[in-house]
Amino acid sequence: MPAPSSLAAWQSLEQRRLHPLPSLRERFVADPSRTARMQAGACGITLDYSKNLLDDDELALLLRLADEAGLAGRIQAMFGGERINTTEARAVLHVALRCPPGTRWQAGGSDVAAEVHAVRARMRAFSQQVRGGEWRGHGGERITDVVNIGIGGSDLGPAMVCEALADHADDGPRMHFVSNVDGVHIGDVTRRCDPRSTLFVVASKTFTTQETLANAHAARAWLVGALGDEAAVARHFVAVSTNAAAVRDFGIDTANMFGFWDWVGGRFSLWSAIGLPIALALGPDRFDELLAGAHSMDEHFRTAPPAANLPVLMALLGIWNVNFLGAASQLIAPYHQRLHRLPAYLQQLDMESNGKSVRHDGTPVDCRTSPILWGEQGINGQHAYFQLVHQGTQLVPVDFIGVLDPGRAHEGLHRIAFANLVAQAEALMRGKTAAEAEAEMRAAGLPDARIAALLPHRVFPGNRPSNVLLLDRLDPFTLGALIAAYEHRTFVQGVIWDVNSFDQWGVELGKQLAARVLAELDPHAPAPAADAHDASTRGLIERYRVHPR
Ligand code: F6P
Repeated sequence: MPAPSSLAAWQSLEQRRLHPLPSLRERFVADPSRTARMQAGACGITLDYSKNLLDDDELALLLRLADEAGLAGRIQAMFGGERINTTEARAVLHVALRCPPGTRWQAGGSDVAAEVHAVRARMRAFSQQVRGGEWRGHGGERITDVVNIGIGGSDLGPAMVCEALADHADDGPRMHFVSNVDGVHIGDVTRRCDPRSTLFVVASKTFTTQETLANAHAARAWLVGALGDEAAVARHFVAVSTNAAAVRDFGIDTANMFGFWDWVGGRFSLWSAIGLPIALALGPDRFDELLAGAHSMDEHFRTAPPAANLPVLMALLGIWNVNFLGAASQLIAPYHQRLHRLPAYLQQLDMESNGKSVRHDGTPVDCRTSPILWGEQGINGQHAYFQLVHQGTQLVPVDFIGVLDPGRAHEGLHRIAFANLVAQAEALMRGKTAAEAEAEMRAAGLPDARIAALLPHRVFPGNRPSNVLLLDRLDPFTLGALIAAYEHRTFVQGVIWDVNSFDQWGVELGKQLAARVLAELDPHAPAPAADAHDASTRGLIERYRVHPR
């Protein structure tokens, strides 16, 4: 692949950004069909991208950029099971996890769909047993609480989905998620649970992750301590992993293990057995609907022309903002309480995938890659950091995510939230001119001197870009489609930046050092050698060792 910046379309885009463009406000006035044209929809989701700082010409160049970067071939390679995760020599087939029953999916010489459906059938049976009260605790109690112990991709996806779809949970068990290894997280959860009726799902692709194994050991000690019988582990622990040997070593019978495969990346794994908490909390039918929504988005992504392709457009708009307008971050603003974990989920998806600075061939990238994703539910954001988004010195593109159907929410309250979403997107686009601000203050009767002093503070520059993603409703199908759309957006951007979106070497160094530091923190172990660390690191270790306990 040539370097992104050497592509002809990239160079033309560089030129375009130098042209002074009319403001968004002016463009809306000049072109009444702008919004009707700048829309895309699929699978119950509509994207209105008309409040972005581009016009048809820039969009055409961005589409050409995707073409020159070989996007069509890369999509084919991913769906075809080629080993596009080159540094780990792995295929990337999370898309196969959501293929409908009855499909065949040949990759690497085998039908991966058959393996996927076999595990899905076991997940279905198990979650029905737990939900129906056939699978009981060691002493015969019905399972009332399920605790997922995992981190990163083995936590964020199921946690986000269980919360987002809580209104669809019927009378499933209560779900808890433990990821932090500080002892507080597991302590808080076990205090709320009765060991006799609690099931632990230990979720780890590798089954070597320090935090997860430490929490799993703590949970087992709590359970065995309370029930007084090591044999209780068999009814209260199941595992989700690709590493059967490590699961066995931990003491979980592999009959109670749900497997997946090395071609499922951690941050793309909620569709695999890592989604077991979703099936347990919401029921296997809801999990199937989630998969169906994602599959439907996969089909849209694979077949829709780029100019009408929701994930492709989302990716290209991001590229324009990051690489040509200089945005260093991307704000995610869901206007729905149940989606409040979505930004955290998307942080791993995007930043672990594309937070890279070398290209496939190991040479440095010559452009900015993943922006910093951040945010939380939009209403809270308005009362915290939206000041910066409106009047700060940085360009912060926003993805506003709204839901049309109020679901079980009070319609009047839901409408207030929706009104705020619409208003924020409008305010960022329009801004408020000095003349408007002055007129407002005059109407309020402020004296001239006060108006002059306040005027610069009360002007909004506007012209700040945003997307609005509208979900018809927040149900499993639409949520599945939304997540898949963001996955493909990440993939498309990785293709254009020519980075491997599917490895994560950047997390290794900290893990290695933590193992060494952990041993050195033990006050009974010899102090680290004087030259083992820099002075700051040594000082921190020493402070911990001597702290009275
Ligand atoms: O530290 C990063 C990471 O490797 C993620 O990619 C992964 O989702 C997470 O850790 C958890 O890994 P595992 O499922 O193997 O415990």
